[in-house]
Amino acid sequence: MIAARAVRASSDDPLSALEVGEGAEAPPPADWVRVTVRAAALNRHDLWSLQGVGLPADRLPMVLGCDASGVTDDGAEVVVHAVVSDPDFRGDETLDPRRTLLSELHPGTLAEVVHVPRRNLLPKPAGWSFELAASLGTAWLTAYRMLFTQARAVPGQTVLVQGAAGGVSNALVRLGVSAGLRVWVTGRDPGRLARAAAWGAHGTFETGRRLPERVDAVFETVGKATWKHSVQSLVPGGCIVVAGATTGGDPSALLENVFFRQLRVLGSTMGTRDEFARLLRYCEIGDLQAEVDSVHTLPDAHAAFARLASGRAVGKVIVTPTR
Ligand SMILES: NC(=O)c1ccc[n+]([C@@H]2O[C@H](COP(=O)([O-])OP(=O)(O)OC[C@H]3O[C@@H](n4cnc5c(N)ncnc54)[C@H](OP(=O)(O)O)[C@@H]3O)[C@@H](O)[C@H]2O)c1
Repeated sequence: MIAARAVRASSDDPLSALEVGEGAEAPPPADWVRVTVRAAALNRHDLWSLQGVGLPADRLPMVLGCDASGVTDDGAEVVVHAVVSDPDFRGDETLDPRRTLLSELHPGTLAEVVHVPRRNLLPKPAGWSFELAASLGTAWLTAYRMLFTQARAVPGQTVLVQGAAGGVSNALVRLGVSAGLRVWVTGRDPGRLARAAAWGAHGTFETGRRLPERVDAVFETVGKATWKHSVQSLVPGGCIVVAGATTGGDPSALLENVFFRQLRVLGSTMGTRDEFARLLRYCEIGDLQAEVDSVHTLPDAHAAFARLASGRAVGKVIVTPTR
């Protein structure tokens, strides 16, 4: 089976830790379902894994990839939910202390075949391409939970998305605009800000620029490079929902601003199967699609990873097995 695997960890040169080639199909846990992958999507998570973040050496080699769509052995067309929780855990599976994402403990989706628990499969919406279905995994599910579960954003509010044209930013803008929010976006590059405007963002600003007025919620995945601006951009009582720190964590959390203006800082990670089902329905009803940056074949996965690592990708980088 061809797959893209992390074979070592390299914080300086993550692509050097990637190997793409034949390997044995790992025996799945009992009762898991075999899915022939038709499309998979890359995430920053895959680059973190190649850097050894969240993927200890004793689990290598590991097939990468969290998101996929495909076909089960009995012919059902499905979308894969990446959060694998303990089968005995009840409630919100993102809160299960033993939960993992595909590719952290169990082989991931950047392969010809992936095995998952049956409850991790959702029906692929009829009429959707496999590429479209795979592109709405991790990034869009994370954005959906940030907006609606954590921030509880309601129509008419003004929100700020830090980062213009990444996978999560694309989802935050499309979902937020569609839900009746006034969405402002910051970014480093005029071309990437123009993409956010084309997705419907109501205002775009250079990273760190003072906004015309304070916002009700900030969606933060950039980290150190934007955290100060995030804290300073909120109305009293506003919230920051933080799901990532691409530029690193910030030791200067501006705590005096947090308590004096009674801000709420809410962590967010992925989403539940139920949220994923609602997201897929929402996108179906609203005719919302992820921006697809590029589509690569699995044997050429190095090029897909290079594109993601370049920081120039707009939206999702997709990988399709060729046979
Ligand atoms: N907790 C979770 O469950 C979860 C789920 C998904 C993602 N994440 C994390 O969220 C982060 C973003 O994920 P992604 O898939 O959207 O990644 P991505 O597609 O690579 O996008 C990266 C984003 O970060 C922005 N950015 C990077 N460096 C910046 C800098 N120096 N200053 C300002 N902005 C900068 C980019 O803004 P421009 O477009 O303006 O260049 C872009 O929007 C990653 O760290 C990822 O690990 C977490």
